[in-house]
Amino acid sequence: MTTAPCAAPMIEALDIVQSYGPRRVLDGVSLAVQRGEVAALVGASGSGKSTLLRVLNGLEPFHSGTVRIGDLVHRGGGSGPEHERLLVALRRKAGMVFQQFHLFPHMSILDNILVGPVHVLGRPRDEAAPQALELLARVGLKDRATDRPERLSGGEQQRVAIARALAVEPEVMLFDEPTSALDPRRAAEVLAFMSDLAAAGQTMLVVTHALNFVQRVARTVHVMADGRIIESGPPTAVLQAPADPRTHGFLAAEEAAR
Ligand SMILES: Nc1ncnc2c1ncn2[C@@H]1O[C@H](COP(=O)(O)OP(=O)(O)OP(=O)(O)O)[C@@H](O)[C@H]1O
Ligand SMILES: [Mg+2]
Repeated sequence: MTTAPCAAPMIEALDIVQSYGPRRVLDGVSLAVQRGEVAALVGASGSGKSTLLRVLNGLEPFHSGTVRIGDLVHRGGGSGPEHERLLVALRRKAGMVFQQFHLFPHMSILDNILVGPVHVLGRPRDEAAPQALELLARVGLKDRATDRPERLSGGEQQRVAIARALAVEPEVMLFDEPTSALDPRRAAEVLAFMSDLAAAGQTMLVVTHALNFVQRVARTVHVMADGRIIESGPPTAVLQAPADPRTHGFLAAEEAAR
């Protein structure tokens, strides 16, 4: 495990390359997210957004390049026990929220949130429970602790999934289309909580089609196409006056789909 000085960005990807068979899904991706910054990642289906997020939190091996999350440095192509320890450490630093919540169906809401503190951090359940309940209150679900996930709406389940990711106090949060499976009202509730998180200074990288949220909350938006970042900048510039014709095409398609 190697470390880097802390003054650098909280999330950094340098020249990441990943292929499936002959196909380069990430073709030299570089980006940086500063401490406390909310960055959005947008782009057409298949452009590589989910693959990049999985690479960032150590869920996906990659061929070459370097990922840095805080002081942890992950170089592509690694293997062996030290590498495995690095991946576990990376997943603690980078909380991930998926489109399909992925809660454990046989566990109560409270136990879902306690998975990280108890099984990953090794804290006693009794000691970790009050903090988990506080997190549940923060996402507006204090009175649902004993319910199973199936009793909750999609939006409520997603807020539990966010609370679960936050329970290990990750340095950065990665969101992969957290509202795509939700109806507009439920999506708005989840986006409102994400806005609160952003206002509290959480470093976040968010893959989303919710361009109004990007416009309001993100400091930077990165646009992906064909495994590359083709354009980056403040939402006002990128979303209103895109420089790359592919960004223009993506935005026109998003507009037509609304
Ligand atoms: N495990 C895999 N094996 C083979 N191909 C894969 C694998 N995972 C992803 N791909 C391919 O890599 C490309 C990028 O996929 P990815 O899921 O990262 O795209 P995306 O930008 O997140 O798309 P979407 O907006 O539809 O979620 C796609 O062509 C996909 O089919
Ligand atoms: Mg995806």
